[in-house]
Amino acid sequence: MKVLLLGNGAREHAMAWALKRSPLVTSLTIAPGNSGTAMLGENVPLDPTNVPAVLDLVSEKKIDLVVVGPEAPLVMGVSDACRGKGIAVFGPGKKGALLEGSKAFSKNFMKRHSIPTAPFDICTEIGEVEKALKKRTAPYVVKADGLAAGKGAFIIDDLKEALFTAEELLSGRKLGKAGETLVIEDCLSGMELTVLAITDGRNIKALSPSQDHKRVFDEDRGPNTGGMGAYSPVPWADQSIMEDIRKMILEPTLSGLQEEGIPYCGVIYAGLMIDEKKRPSLIEYNVRLGDPEAQVVLPVFEGDFAETLVACCERRLDQLAWPKTEKTAVDVVLASGGYPGNYEKGFPIKGLEELADREDILVFHAGVSMDSQGRFVTDGGRVLSVVGLAQDLKGAVEKAYSGVKQIFFEGMHYRSDIASKAIDFQ
Ligand code: AMP
Ligand code: GLY
Repeated sequence: MKVLLLGNGAREHAMAWALKRSPLVTSLTIAPGNSGTAMLGENVPLDPTNVPAVLDLVSEKKIDLVVVGPEAPLVMGVSDACRGKGIAVFGPGKKGALLEGSKAFSKNFMKRHSIPTAPFDICTEIGEVEKALKKRTAPYVVKADGLAAGKGAFIIDDLKEALFTAEELLSGRKLGKAGETLVIEDCLSGMELTVLAITDGRNIKALSPSQDHKRVFDEDRGPNTGGMGAYSPVPWADQSIMEDIRKMILEPTLSGLQEEGIPYCGVIYAGLMIDEKKRPSLIEYNVRLGDPEAQVVLPVFEGDFAETLVACCERRLDQLAWPKTEKTAVDVVLASGGYPGNYEKGFPIKGLEELADREDILVFHAGVSMDSQGRFVTDGGRVLSVVGLAQDLKGAVEKAYSGVKQIFFEGMHYRSDIASKAIDFQ
């Protein structure tokens, strides 16, 4: 099978790694890919949101399966275009991608299908926003409707400041068109959990639950980032919580899509809040694997990833034996000095060669490139994902940080407490 993978982050490096382990995959092309995926297949420099260019590549390389990593090409309709040419694609079409592409659509969808979520109002004018905020108490949650690369949700303690943020969003000054419609909602409390589920439109199966670490510093301090680490599975997400998530969130999502005539083959990412009574609420949908969640969920997936995706495209996920999770993975993200603010690039990265052949420590590239002398150098905010694999969480944490200690680049920083709360739980 000739596979084309779209995207260029550490998530896509992890997806490429998982695909390459399958005996079904005879050739792997990644567009545009990164220095990590270059070790697993052929990178082709191409913007994955350029749909005609993707179609040309598919026919030039005689691709059998297209796998879409990030959300932007899905929202642009890359899957519909490939399916229109009879090519199997893992990733929803434009309509399904609205679950991530429009928060107003996704909140209304949750409401229509009685999926538990924070009560909300949808506003397009500041007067409506003021009413919606005054109905609520602090902290106020203001969200842009459109795609904002993780920067569209604001949790604000002060009413005046919340109104000001809403005004900035509505005017287009803050996030352009993405902020022209807003969601104002109640603030939920509890513990956050990510459940990535795979669906063929008829069946839905959850991968191992995971947890992201969004803040830049230890103990969840400092500004939000694209994710500083993750682990999977999550010890407190027991069978009864997972069963509730299946019944209250995943299955109603699938039947909702079916009722609304939205075909869906791909990932449903459920961003959840679990309250003190262990009840789940859905904060958001995404329509692709999470980053950094994929870097831990794929290494603990005992099945054949390529075979799973093909079964999805052929709408026969129910015929696949769903494997039990045996291992635990912990991902520590190494970031450039200054990230998530400004940072310099081009610093040589030491220690990657020493970790190249390890089975228990995986290093996925994100902001890395190769300089003219063939050295790996930093080329982004989040540079590497260092993943430790072991039988339990403590072992996986030790493995991940032992890998981190072997890597160095100038300005490198990372969180030293990934998964520590979960270890305390155990
Ligand atoms: P979103 O853009 O919807 O993914 O939100 C980003 C992050 O903001 C989430 O992962 C949560 O940590 C937080 N968040 C969003 N909505 C809420 C809410 N209603 N209550 C509490 N936290 C929230
Ligand atoms: N980990 C959050 C995301 O992928 O959106």
